[in-house]
Amino acid sequence: MSTASKASNDASDPSEETEIVPGGPRHVAIIMDGNGRWATQRGRPRLFGHHAGARRVREVVEACPCFGVEYLTIFAFSTENWKRTQVEVAGLMSLFRRYITKETRTLRDFGARVRFIGDRVKLDKKLIRLMNELEEATAHNDKVNLTIALNYGGRDEVARATQRLAQDVADGKLDPASVDEETLPRYLDTYVLPDPDLVIRTSGEARISNFLLWQSAYAEYEFIDTLWPDFTRDEFGRLCAAYGDRDRRFGAVKT
Ligand code: IPE
Ligand code: IPE
Ligand code: MG
Repeated sequence: MSTASKASNDASDPSEETEIVPGGPRHVAIIMDGNGRWATQRGRPRLFGHHAGARRVREVVEACPCFGVEYLTIFAFSTENWKRTQVEVAGLMSLFRRYITKETRTLRDFGARVRFIGDRVKLDKKLIRLMNELEEATAHNDKVNLTIALNYGGRDEVARATQRLAQDVADGKLDPASVDEETLPRYLDTYVLPDPDLVIRTSGEARISNFLLWQSAYAEYEFIDTLWPDFTRDEFGRLCAAYGDRDRRFGAVKT
């Protein structure tokens, strides 16, 4: 039976649902795009779409163990999203505060370990406190690793990492001649995470918009038309199953 046909929205008996996708992705990263268009199609303000999008996250997180996904990283707000109207930015920040407050217990009890990546400095104090509390509340969990990219930009992350690396050189802790491609990732926000195997972007846009630039060098990509608020567990399962059919060569030739 295919993953897609077996996947169900009924979470009453998790053991029945478990279907580890053979050769499936260990780390899936998602660019959750299309909330604004989803709302506009319904004649509603963009924030209505962001709220609908936030409600989709739980189902996807809870599906991860069923599909063998150990790490899920989701793009919630980019370093470029500050360019949006003040109303939308303030509404998103308020949504993040509400989401964390509402979901902390559910995520903790489910067994998710939550981490945030991105630059926290620009975020408001209350949001930073809630983010820290969520990380602490889930620090001992290991059922699924959920990483939320908030005020995250791949270029900004590499720039911040380079600053720290340069400081270590200046302090005599790091020999510049020893810096190689194993060194820089230790300074990235994602230093404890494996690289993503599969990056999914919803909403039909085929670009990565500054997401996980270093880490996705050899990721497989899926650009799908579904708008994020319409994304389902079934579609997630189908994409994980399709990943299993990909031939990842990493530059080598199969003999
Ligand atoms: C993604 O949806 C969520 C964020 C970027 C915060 P968008 O808000 O980009 O939705 P579209 O792309 O305008 O439809
Ligand atoms: C990327 O989506 C950021 C998030 C999903 C949080 P955007 O909607 O901001 O990206 P562009 O502007 O279409 O490239
Ligand atoms: Mg968008």
